[in-house]
Amino acid sequence: MEAVVLGGSSLTHMALRLAKALEVEYVKVETRKFPDGEKYVRILGDVEDRIAIVVQSMYHRPDEYLLEYFLIVDTLKDLGAKKVIGVVPYFAYARQDQRFKPGEALSLKTVTKLIENAGTDELYTVDVHRHRVEEAEFPRITRMPVHNVTAMPELAKYAIRAYDLKDPIVIGPDAEAEHWARVAAEAIGADYDYLEKKRISDREVEVRPKRLDVRGRDVLIVDDIISTGGTMVKAIDVVRREGARRVIAACTHPVLVEGALARVLEAGAEDVIATDTIPSPISRVSVVPILAKSIKERLRS
Ligand code: R5P
Repeated sequence: MEAVVLGGSSLTHMALRLAKALEVEYVKVETRKFPDGEKYVRILGDVEDRIAIVVQSMYHRPDEYLLEYFLIVDTLKDLGAKKVIGVVPYFAYARQDQRFKPGEALSLKTVTKLIENAGTDELYTVDVHRHRVEEAEFPRITRMPVHNVTAMPELAKYAIRAYDLKDPIVIGPDAEAEHWARVAAEAIGADYDYLEKKRISDREVEVRPKRLDVRGRDVLIVDDIISTGGTMVKAIDVVRREGARRVIAACTHPVLVEGALARVLEAGAEDVIATDTIPSPISRVSVVPILAKSIKERLRS
């Protein structure tokens, strides 16, 4: 394959592992900051006429990692790369996918356009936040092909193996998570359900009580993101009140701000698991194999 993998500073180790999985060359990117805080980027290899696969996740310092991504992609095009494939395992700004209040930025659209305009020909991401409004679906906001792979089956299989779950049921903490609960449940032959959530503020949510078939059962709660942990804590409360025997919390992207992990454990989760789209102490499942499989299939087609 005439491709190379490069990594921005957010996930250099994942870029190295992806290059190995794809059996292609890894090209180092030098990044540093000028004394005034501006970013410096230099591509340390030959990319002319090659497909350049750029790995960059947008966690914790999303603006900085985005700008670094733009500098890398534009430079690759200047250096003659045939095609640039962006791999953005955690796609920040996806939750602002509608104008909840008049005048708000539609951040998902803006960021997607910027990624495309920087020179990205195709984009891979993982469990990007499900869009609440049809207008925010990728095909409506970009001509660039976007491949959104899911880590839910791998998370569910990991949970079954690691915790020996008995008579498991998968629960999504809100209506948007119904899809992930279904995909996770199918992978382990379990049933699934979901809760209704109302967001009060950035840090506060309400999850409505609901009759659930969880009494005496082992429950796996799955979501795309655990950020403040507010959503997961409320979902755990509901399933425990309904008589769940054990609760394991899982998410694809462990954003984990403001002591979220401790809050979720204190709420009664036996354990919390996530993928490595964001490096964290609970990143037990790697998305490298699923990304590599999807990219390989695409490059062969
Ligand atoms: C929002 O709809 C997402 O799917 C997650 O439920 C949300 O981002 C989790 O955020 P937090 O942990 O702050 O409740």
